[in-house]
This record gives sequence, C-alpha cells and structure tokens, in this order.
Amino acid sequence: MLARAPGRVNLIGDHTDYNEGVALAMALDMATEVRFVPGPSRFVVLDSSAETGPARVSIDVPLDDVLLRSVRPPWARYVAGVVAAVRPRRGGTGSVSSELPIGAGLASSASLEISLALAFGWTGDPLELARACQSAELAATGVPCGLLDQVSIIDAAKGHATLIDFADLSRTRVPLPVSVDVLVVDSGERRSLDDTAYAERRSECEAAARSLGPLGRSKPGSERALSDPVLRRRVRHVVSECERVRRFARAVVCGDVEEAGTLMTASHASLARDFEVSTPGLDALVGELTATEGVLGARLTGGGFGGCVVALSRPGAVDPTKLGRPCWLVRPADGASRSELV
Ligand code: GLA
Repeated sequence: MLARAPGRVNLIGDHTDYNEGVALAMALDMATEVRFVPGPSRFVVLDSSAETGPARVSIDVPLDDVLLRSVRPPWARYVAGVVAAVRPRRGGTGSVSSELPIGAGLASSASLEISLALAFGWTGDPLELARACQSAELAATGVPCGLLDQVSIIDAAKGHATLIDFADLSRTRVPLPVSVDVLVVDSGERRSLDDTAYAERRSECEAAARSLGPLGRSKPGSERALSDPVLRRRVRHVVSECERVRRFARAVVCGDVEEAGTLMTASHASLARDFEVSTPGLDALVGELTATEGVLGARLTGGGFGGCVVALSRPGAVDPTKLGRPCWLVRPADGASRSELV
C-alpha cells in the first residue's frame, strides 16, 4: 500500500479547535508518504528518510501512554500509537518519507499518523480516522491536541480551504481566489508541543469554560464575567478569533483579500498578546512580512512557540528565494489518499 497525507497550513483560527470554535485551514502540496507491504510477521518495521533508526512495533502493542512514551527511537512512538489505535491485522515492512519540516506548525505529526493509518489498511469514516489519530498522538506524546490538524488533512479538496466548525465537525469548502499568493515562511525556531505551554493553555480554556460554557460559542465581552485577568485574556482571544475566522471566510468568498489580510494580522496580535503563544522571533517575522510592499497580512500558524508564519500577498509580491529563510508559495491541495503498490 502507498499512502500519502499532506501537511496543512492554518490560514486563521488557532487554539479554537479544542474550544468548539472554528478554523479555516488548507492542505499543502507537501506530504508524508508511507509504503507498506504486509507480511506474516507480527511486527511492523519501518524506516524513515528523516529519522535515524527503524521503528519496530508489535501489532499487539497496547494503547498505553506510559508504554508508548518509552518506545525508541522517539519517532517510533507515533508508529506505535497508530498501530495501537488502528490495530492492523498483519505486520509488515515499509518506509516513510516526508517533504514537511518537522515541528514547524505544518502538522507533520498528523500527516505521519494519517498516512500510517491508511497504509495499515484503515477503512472507515474520515472523522473516525481523525479521532483515532488524535488518540494515537495523545497516547504517544501526551499532547492533548485538538482535531484541527487531522480534520484539515483527511478530505481536503484542491483549490479550496476548509472551514471547520468544531462544535459538530462540519466542514465547508471555501474556494481560495487565485488573485492572492499564500506564503509559508519558516522562522527556524523549533519546538515540540509537549515541552510548550500547549497543555497549560488548554486547561486555562477549560477552566474558563466551566463558568462560561464552550468558549468557541461564547459572545464577545463574555470574558468580563471572569475575575482572573489571565483567563479573561485567553477567552478574549478564542472569542475574537472565531469572529475573525467567520469574517475571513466571508471576505475570501467575496474576493476582499485586503480584509482577509487585515484579519490575519489581527489574529497574530491576539495570539501574541492575549493567548501568549508567540515568540520574539515570530513577531519580528510577521513585522518584516507585513512591512513588505504587496503583503496583505501575516500570522503565526498552528500551535505557536516557534514554527512557521503564513502570509497573504498580491501575486508575485514576495520572491520566496529572496527571503533568506525557507519559504514556500503554496496552493490548496487534495487531502489524504492511498493506492496499491505496483
Ligand atoms: C496544534 C494542535 C491543534 C491546534 C493547533 C492550534 O497544531 O495539534 O489541534 O490546537 O495547535 O490551533
């Protein structure tokens, strides 16, 4: 089996997924590929082009977080997590290759998980696949991630971003105008979400939601009911970010790309000031991009604490080869797929 799952760039709507909010993301034409040939063995053995040392995992491995987090080499934890969540009936051998930068906010881990699950023969509903991969990631890394990455990857369509409503996981395709460029710029700062304050942010949101209900469905100003100034800021980010996502989707559909860019830059400010997931390096990169002629807006994308920035610009305004950092001009790509190996 040959399975391919793209990475994603989130155009707007970060830290909204685990709050029953909304986000608008697109699949990338950079992907992870898994080739897998089932055999009689009870072990899955995979090599990776990006990692040293093979992953060797029993198909009977339990979905047990203590055990999974002790698996070595560390990348094999994802393999073990997916094996435990998907339960392939047979072992086998194969290889993994990826075009995605790892730990850069482009969903390299979700892309690995989904391509593994498909290569192991997963059949079934795309949302169940997304949930199985989310549980694999939680067990393997301890990061209580939401469903943004997996859902934006599973059934994306070329030329379209996906507006996801996490209250019911409904997805609406939003055509992206060809009159804008989408640029992804790598800050070079690397993080893994398990050593960041991701889990802390999530529990702050949960604490606020115990008083207010799901933050993604709360009204602007609802944070005023809270006395804790930190929780107030977290709520203000989530509520205003969901509002920006809806306005961004409308602006894109109407071709109002200036408005879309302005909303992206406002999203960055909110993530930096109210949600505190930016870094001086990301702020400087967003500042540099938004000061460039023809750039309409820019923001950090994904969990934050490093990784990539996404920018919207007039066509050709930025030459990706002249930025002095890894930079990709991207178009919305199709979602995950698989085919028989020939
Ligand atoms: C990471 C998580 C997602 C989401 C983003 C922030 O990518 O895996 O579930 O929470 O951060 O929007």
